[in-house]
Amino acid sequence: DSTIAEAVAAFREGKPVLIHDFADREGETDIVYPAESMTPEDVVRLRTDAGGLICTAIPDAVGAAFDLPLLDDALAHPSADGGDLGYDSRSSFSLPVNHRDTYTGITDNDRSLTIRKLAEATANPAGTDFASEFRAPGHVHVLRAAPGLLSERRGHTELGVALAQEAGVTPAVVVCEMLDEETGEALSPADAQSYADRHGLVYLEGSALVEQLG
Ligand code: 5RP
Ligand code: ZN
Ligand code: CA
Ligand code: ZN
Repeated sequence: DSTIAEAVAAFREGKPVLIHDFADREGETDIVYPAESMTPEDVVRLRTDAGGLICTAIPDAVGAAFDLPLLDDALAHPSADGGDLGYDSRSSFSLPVNHRDTYTGITDNDRSLTIRKLAEATANPAGTDFASEFRAPGHVHVLRAAPGLLSERRGHTELGVALAQEAGVTPAVVVCEMLDEETGEALSPADAQSYADRHGLVYLEGSALVEQLG
């Protein structure tokens, strides 16, 4: 396995890190990028090599500054009851957004723009009028981390934000699950590690992040 120091160094260079959460949680490996330097080519890697949902995680305080709700709380529909997730006590989903300078919002150019602008907003909440910059619904899912970060919730949302904080980069991170088209399941940790080796990327266990940063 790689070390936290290697992951920190990767983040400072705008490179992605693979993070496997826990076998008894989702049991998924996400490709995780610092949001501030996201390029269209990075979005291509996520949708072709990872294949999951492309999301941007931000700290709780930033979500609060922008009055971004958790969807569980915001939706009146009875399906949004916060109830029966099999692997955690709650979801971290907030609004899906597009930057207002995008057109449809889904293209690699559009999604990378929305993501970089979310990082800019995260770096300067006081100087950002969120609703004048972003529209919802859109095509990048904002995830709002738990207030107590890793002491409270141990999802990729919190693992990624904690790593960004440790690296001293803007604490907005892009996460996307690695899926296996052969099995129809999440990519196994062994296959995720071999992807990391082939591409010269850092692979980290969530447990290592919790031990050292939690
Ligand atoms: C959004 C998700 C992913 O699992 C993502 O990793 C964020 O969620 P969590 O913090 O629960 O791991 O469901 O695509
Ligand atoms: Zn998930
Ligand atoms: Ca729900
Ligand atoms: Zn996850």
